[in-house]
Amino acid sequence: MTKDQSLRREGEHLLSEIKSLGEELLAESNEPALLPAIYTRRSIRKFVDTPLTGDEVQVLLEAGLRAPSSKNKHTTQFILVEDRETLDRLSRMRESGALFLQQVPLGIVVLGSPMECERWIADASLAAGYIQLQAEALGLGSCWADAYGCYTGAGQESAEYVRNVLDIPYQLEVLCILAIGHKAGEAAPRPTETLKWEKIHIGRYQMAEEPTEEA
Ligand SMILES: Cc1cc2nc3c(=O)[nH]c(=O)nc-3n(C[C@H](O)[C@H](O)[C@H](O)COP(=O)(O)O)c2cc1C
Repeated sequence: MTKDQSLRREGEHLLSEIKSLGEELLAESNEPALLPAIYTRRSIRKFVDTPLTGDEVQVLLEAGLRAPSSKNKHTTQFILVEDRETLDRLSRMRESGALFLQQVPLGIVVLGSPMECERWIADASLAAGYIQLQAEALGLGSCWADAYGCYTGAGQESAEYVRNVLDIPYQLEVLCILAIGHKAGEAAPRPTETLKWEKIHIGRYQMAEEPTEEA
């Protein structure tokens, strides 16, 4: 057996040990291993026309503000948009991929501040993810509409388009707009066994198995 094969075998053995340990812990505790919102969250692009309450909006924003941030700088900013006409305009920041903003009661525009923090994309993405998980925990649906690095149907930068609609100063970048509202339908959680477990490496990076001659 080559050194590579033996390391791979060792890795597989470790992975199966970790899995069975997880199963044992689950069986003992009777508790879900994941936060329910992490398990059930899916991107939702169809919404019913029910407004959010002030409390719901507040708790969503608190989730964004509580996200970890590089050097604890917390430079991410958020613009709440509830005005129907403005949301319709924002839905056209992309040729497609943001049209669902036309149905939601709330869009949260997530802004980064590159001049204050070079890790702005990571910070703003984490804040957006926290808001999406909090939305799920409230029974709400959400979807990320990408702006940074995207273009309108007419070829204008989506971030620039949003900047003009909302008077955003040039120092700030528009990462995305989160569409948040009451779900028009449920999307099933992804079954645990369908997750891309092969993306996980134990101990060191392992290349995917090369197909053998006989196979
Ligand atoms: C960085 C990022 C950008 C995304 N951009 C869009 C987008 O512009 N429009 C859209 O409909 N969904 C967008 N999504 C949602 C993904 O399409 C979605 O998360 C993915 O298909 C997996 O589905 P799930 O969220 O239901 O698990 C984006 C997600 C991420 C993380």
